[in-house]
Amino acid sequence: MGRPKITVIGSINMDLVVKTDRVPKMGETVLGSQFLTTPGGKGANQAVACARLGADVTMVGCVGDDVFGRQLVENLRKENISTENVEPVTFLSTGIACITVQDGDNSIIVVPGANYAIDEEKIQQVEHLIKESNLLLLQLEIPLKSVELAVDIAHKYQVPVIVNPAPAAELPSSMLEKITVVTPNEYELETIAGQKFEQPDDFKKAIQSYAGQLVMTKGKEGAYYTAADGGIGYCPGYRVEAVDTTGAGDSFNAGLAVMLAEGKSLSEATKYAAAVGALSVTRLGAQSGMPTRHEVEQFLQEREGREL
Ligand code: RIB
Repeated sequence: MGRPKITVIGSINMDLVVKTDRVPKMGETVLGSQFLTTPGGKGANQAVACARLGADVTMVGCVGDDVFGRQLVENLRKENISTENVEPVTFLSTGIACITVQDGDNSIIVVPGANYAIDEEKIQQVEHLIKESNLLLLQLEIPLKSVELAVDIAHKYQVPVIVNPAPAAELPSSMLEKITVVTPNEYELETIAGQKFEQPDDFKKAIQSYAGQLVMTKGKEGAYYTAADGGIGYCPGYRVEAVDTTGAGDSFNAGLAVMLAEGKSLSEATKYAAAVGALSVTRLGAQSGMPTRHEVEQFLQEREGREL
């Protein structure tokens, strides 16, 4: 097959990143060591990663009619992503994320802004795009009603759909049934399953109820997935030196999306996605850290037959 056609409907943010040795307590001021303004947003991050992995990507989203919005659209174009369906709106400013990076790990506050202008009407306008896609990729930084409608449309045309339920939210069961693969981390799975995991293995019982339909990421430990018969598969994480984990989940989802759109099995796609995720954390910035297909193939070859 040629390049798979993937439509991403989701957020486009400007990330305001501060590196610091210590996160301040409430009321305290500390000196940070580095600041950068860099393209982000779970939707746009996943779109960029899919494009670098060789997919033909269309982005659907909203930005503000402002400097950040223009920079972000330009950046998507440079990544060879179709931006015809990225709309600048005048009544809200571009979404931003304040990100603090300490010891390679991060904490994030997102102000969605224009991302919340992706309403149901906008989703209806792109029905033809969803229909023509090999795969639809969604996250939860846009209104849930819009995500639900997009899932409905994909289901109507039997287009596979991945929902990355981040940030965490409860998902209606009518929607879950129509999703091809849902990709929570452990905390997001607790929210979906409506239960707190008290014991280390509690998540395994929860994921068994989503046969063939769920991949749970567990940070550097790797990922678990459910086989069609309800059995649990596990793919260990690749050991790398983490510089910035921002966008690790996004790169994982992109790897999974491109492989599933190319017809690979859930286990093959999960292994590939874990490699994409591992490579992305070795660089600072969400989109700037996304690896190319060539880099992933090289990495997999190097690690083949070695300890992960
Ligand atoms: O997943 C990482 C992303 O979450 C960041 O780029 C930030 O914009 C937030 O949306």
